[in-house]
Amino acid sequence: MLLPGNDAAAIERAAEALAAGELVAFPTETVYGLGARADDDRAVAGIFALKGRPADHPLIVHVQDAACANCFAATLGDVATRLVDAFWPGPLTIIVPRVPGVAAAAAGGQPTIGLRCPSHPVARALLAAARQRGVPGVAAPSANRFGRISPTLAQHVVDEFGEALLVLDGGECEVGIESSIVDCSGAVPALLRPGQIPRERIEAAAGVPLADPTASSPRASGTLEAHYAPRAKLRLMPAAMLNTALQMLGDSPLRLAVYSRTVTLPHGSRLQRRAMPDDPDRAAHELFATLRELDAQGLDLIWVEEPPGGSPWDGVRDRLARAAAA
Ligand code: TXA
Ligand code: MG
Repeated sequence: MLLPGNDAAAIERAAEALAAGELVAFPTETVYGLGARADDDRAVAGIFALKGRPADHPLIVHVQDAACANCFAATLGDVATRLVDAFWPGPLTIIVPRVPGVAAAAAGGQPTIGLRCPSHPVARALLAAARQRGVPGVAAPSANRFGRISPTLAQHVVDEFGEALLVLDGGECEVGIESSIVDCSGAVPALLRPGQIPRERIEAAAGVPLADPTASSPRASGTLEAHYAPRAKLRLMPAAMLNTALQMLGDSPLRLAVYSRTVTLPHGSRLQRRAMPDDPDRAAHELFATLRELDAQGLDLIWVEEPPGGSPWDGVRDRLARAAAA
């Protein structure tokens, strides 16, 4: 059921549902989340069941502020503290050692916990109202079935899970791709998942360079090879290759769409094309909604022009690479 996120009574109702151990989907600045109170393993089990997500894949716990983070974190440490100061509330998740015995299901059994303080006003209002009812944090993965494209509109969540689920409608998610995840639980901080914030900005705030994930890094489902998969086969190509492929295609019976920044369709082509913005933040904002919209048409193929190099594009490149790997 869709409820208006800007309505105080709707927030109260959603907070009550969370406090009672029910699931609520809500908007964040990155993507919509599927939430349950993080301190209730039975409620959290409902998330895994609804998503079809393996129970050993940890979830991110959303907190209202750094004080609430201490309900779950055994210790933050210097790097995580600096990241929290620099980026909260905002699209950055820290992985830190967990208080033993707390939020074990949300953590997927790992000795660490992912924590994030979202900036979206509806998420903040919900977390505040839930906290009033004794909820210290809300575990919430992206509100999509396991392995599918993350939702950036309330309607996407309804499309995934149907009308029975309580969904707070907060409009379009501004960022459009999931938060940056920095693992601060080991000797060297590592960027597990790139998001909107360019790596250099995170490193400047952290005061140390970030490592890349290693084989021993904590498991992150958003970092599985094949993730964010549309049903159509997605192929990523450099501009020149895409151009050549389109020239050679001619009149093909394939149901194919092109999603490109610089490459345009050959003269007279009847294919459809979506233009990818030149600005990486705009591109991220539109990315999942565009893939969903194209996918809803039952295409065979989506040919995507590789985004430019450079860290501001890391998040978009990462999501497209995973969609293409599926
Ligand atoms: O932007 C976001 O982060 C969104 C919104 C809803 O906040 N949430 C999101 O959640 O993307 P999800 O579950 O789809 O992705 C969470 C990622 C997964 O890759 C998960 O494995 C990783 O965070 N993660 C969470 N806790 C972790 C932990 N303790 N150790 C390692 N990875 C963890
Ligand atoms: Mg996800």
